[in-house]
Amino acid sequence: MKTTLTHLECSRCKKTYPENQLLNLCSCGGPLLGRYDLKAAAKTLTCATLRERPATMWRYAELLPASGEPVSLGEGMTPLVHAQRLGQRMGLQQLYVKDEGLNPTGSFKARGLSAAVTRAKELGAKKLATPTAGNAGGALAAYAARAGLPAIIVMPADTPEANEIECRAAGAEVVKLDGLISDCGKYVAERKDREGWYEVTTLKEPYRIEGKKTMGFEVWEQLDGQLPDVIIYPTGGGVGMIGMWKGFAELAALGLVGAKRPRMVTVQAAGCAPVVRAFEKGAESSEFWENAATIASGLRVPKALGDFLILQAIRESGGTAVAASDEEIMAEARALAADEGIFAAPEGAAALCAVRKLAKQGWIKPDEVVVAYNTGSGYKYLPSWRQAVGI
Ligand SMILES: Cc1ncc(COP(=O)(O)O)c(C=O)c1O
Ligand SMILES: [Zn+2]
Repeated sequence: MKTTLTHLECSRCKKTYPENQLLNLCSCGGPLLGRYDLKAAAKTLTCATLRERPATMWRYAELLPASGEPVSLGEGMTPLVHAQRLGQRMGLQQLYVKDEGLNPTGSFKARGLSAAVTRAKELGAKKLATPTAGNAGGALAAYAARAGLPAIIVMPADTPEANEIECRAAGAEVVKLDGLISDCGKYVAERKDREGWYEVTTLKEPYRIEGKKTMGFEVWEQLDGQLPDVIIYPTGGGVGMIGMWKGFAELAALGLVGAKRPRMVTVQAAGCAPVVRAFEKGAESSEFWENAATIASGLRVPKALGDFLILQAIRESGGTAVAASDEEIMAEARALAADEGIFAAPEGAAALCAVRKLAKQGWIKPDEVVVAYNTGSGYKYLPSWRQAVGI
């Protein structure tokens, strides 16, 4: 059970790079993607061997980048909950919620940062830095602490309090800026060389995406070797979407799935929906969204570096893109809690808003298998929840 990582490849110009160096973007500015020896991986990553493996995302070791012991807190293998009651109300028989709120640090960001910190440590990084909408910062702080590395985390001043507290608790340095994640990104980029930080910013670092693709692998296992018809994913930077799409191609190369892929649906908040707008216009990339505002703080990304890859995944898969207002999001969050007992982050509730809309339009058929991702725990958003429950 070891990695088969062979090199990195630019997602734009296809230039290749060695895997054993600390790298960020390609010289052309494109994000780098991990490539594996899939023939070798197919020999040992099989349905039979998976049965014997630990219930964490590192069970897919051949298709993950760690060359030694990973920096882990037990991330992954989150429950896939059959949401029967909520599904019935939406006219769907097979609605599932993948509950990523049960990861260490309370969000799916644990997967990406476990992979990124593992690799950064292996390759000799001295201090890790990231801009964040909130949850990625909390996850970086925790995994950096676990790795024994210092971290600096730059977040908008109005990021949910829970995120700042968890970063400080883990001993990270926190910088709060009046602005959005895009301003935080500039702050890190301007200082990293001078300060000797290794930047683990979304898609500027090659391995967060590798951790996140395991959200797709697990659903394949949990549905007994099938992929769902539809995947609904709340999209900010888009790493989850891009990662799962890449992961499905790898599963196919290993002979573990056929040619059929899920239709990939991006969900964004109405107050920040650059990918939805670009999808509707038929554009290949998005435009910067001015005055981005939503309680779903993880979706407050006005322009994603990998927007072209998100749009590619939506289009290649026959998917679509949907926006939901903050009001719709919190109403749906309450429905999910009351019908199924899942206390979701607003980002996760947004995914359920999209399911409801698409089922109503007939875009999702009553008997299709639908997986919506609740990407985080409601416990991190108590002020929004306080309002929603009216206290
Ligand atoms: C809870 C939550 N959901 C979704 C997202 C968006 O993630 P991605 O970058 O994979 O699009 C974030 C990002 O901060 C988040 O915190
Ligand atoms: Zn390139």
